[in-house]
Amino acid sequence: MSADQAKANIGVVGLAVMGSNLARNLASREGNTVAVYNRTYEKTEHLLAEHPEAEFVASSTYEEFAASLSTPRTAIIMVKAGRGTDAVIDELVKVFEPGDIIVDGGNALFTDTIRRERAVRETGINFVGAGISGGEEGALLGPSIMPGGSAEAWETLGPILKSIAAVAEGEPCVTHVGTDGAGHFVKMIHNGIEYADMQLIAEAYDLIRRGTGKTPAEIAEIFAEWNRGELESYLIEITAEVLKQVDADTQKPLVDVILDQAGAKGTGAWTVQTALDLGIPVSGIAEAVFARSLSSKPAQRAAASDLPGPSEAWTVDDADAFIEDVRLALYASKIVAYSQGFDEIVAGAEQYDWDIKKGEIAKIWRGGCIIRAQFLNRITEAYDEDPGLVALLTAPFFRSALEQAQEAWRRVVIAATRAGIPSPAFSSSLSYYDGLRADRLPAALVQGQRDFFGAHTYKRIDKEGTFHTQWSGDRTEIEATDTH
Ligand code: 6PG
Repeated sequence: MSADQAKANIGVVGLAVMGSNLARNLASREGNTVAVYNRTYEKTEHLLAEHPEAEFVASSTYEEFAASLSTPRTAIIMVKAGRGTDAVIDELVKVFEPGDIIVDGGNALFTDTIRRERAVRETGINFVGAGISGGEEGALLGPSIMPGGSAEAWETLGPILKSIAAVAEGEPCVTHVGTDGAGHFVKMIHNGIEYADMQLIAEAYDLIRRGTGKTPAEIAEIFAEWNRGELESYLIEITAEVLKQVDADTQKPLVDVILDQAGAKGTGAWTVQTALDLGIPVSGIAEAVFARSLSSKPAQRAAASDLPGPSEAWTVDDADAFIEDVRLALYASKIVAYSQGFDEIVAGAEQYDWDIKKGEIAKIWRGGCIIRAQFLNRITEAYDEDPGLVALLTAPFFRSALEQAQEAWRRVVIAATRAGIPSPAFSSSLSYYDGLRADRLPAALVQGQRDFFGAHTYKRIDKEGTFHTQWSGDRTEIEATDTH
């Protein structure tokens, strides 16, 4: 291909559903000409045949692909995260030049992105890890995009990404999140919150169904109703759709014929693993990840299925009141999940030296992504009002929402416990709330225990310094000079 054929301003590598939808989205926007490449050319041919209107510039080799792009060359990799990404990067580095931009649009682990960015930067080429949320439909019609990478790369990439992103209240759902792995880090947290939100909704459904005997179709109506209020969100909306669905074979609610073992591709677990490293208690998110793990242990579940449950039957006297309690418990637990997710963003930003604007992140999550929700505006407002907010759930709006919900939340957790219905995300979120607001925690006793068996020392509430009690001797306290 000659230089005058270098007419595409953006390229996409990897033409599975997400890649081809993103390429079609790019092609549909004014001013974009899109180069496409796939490892097997048949897939490229198929896309070309299906979508002539996109006027894709197709290549069968990386050399041709590079030649079809105007400079600085910009290509978005849309392959399954992992080794495949490294293989494509290696090929692109061979045919790209300094100043060009390689974007990884997959769900990469942010530490891989940090590593890749460092390696690619050595060649003078820019590497941008960009989280893209919204599934297949979002990729086609407008996703929420979380790019990291250099400011230089953002200058070229920003306008292109803005052209394809979802729009919420007139603003494109994309922002330069921070350098190197910041974008994929924030996408990981997005997914952690997604796990929590999904688990909370599932617990709400389970409690209502088992407490009131309502059918999935009736519960679908309840969710549809909730979606008109403060819980308005994509996940609530699609839950109503899922619950309405009837299985064509059996005429049963589809939810009753789906095997109750939840899958996971790993981003939720990464959120929790990273939180453990950072020392951030994302307990609601962790319980959501573990709930999926528990569901996927059929042998253990079968072995435990005859363990005793509560001896008294559980009845709900006032179904409407109970449903309203569950709604409030869901709202309060959801606030906790977001608050924990934002805590992890703050800790990650500090650890990796990223300047992440929390309010901006909430803004770009308002449209396109899986956790899009009405109340993200409130999060932006909270961080705008107080950029140094130490815990999201203490912002005035959330404080008052929690105040209104907390009694109902407690009633729901008590009911679930009495009834023997698992509610790990509801109850751990409530424990987190109570833990955070406690005057004194039994952590003091833990410190005493640590000092007893390991001379790990403790601090006192009334004096400066570090102390150790001589437990095996005369039990006097000494001021410790070294810490263990
Ligand atoms: C998104 C989704 C997307 C994907 C998840 C599903 O933001 O568009 O989060 O990234 O659907 O990876 O994850 P699990 O398979 O782990 O549920």
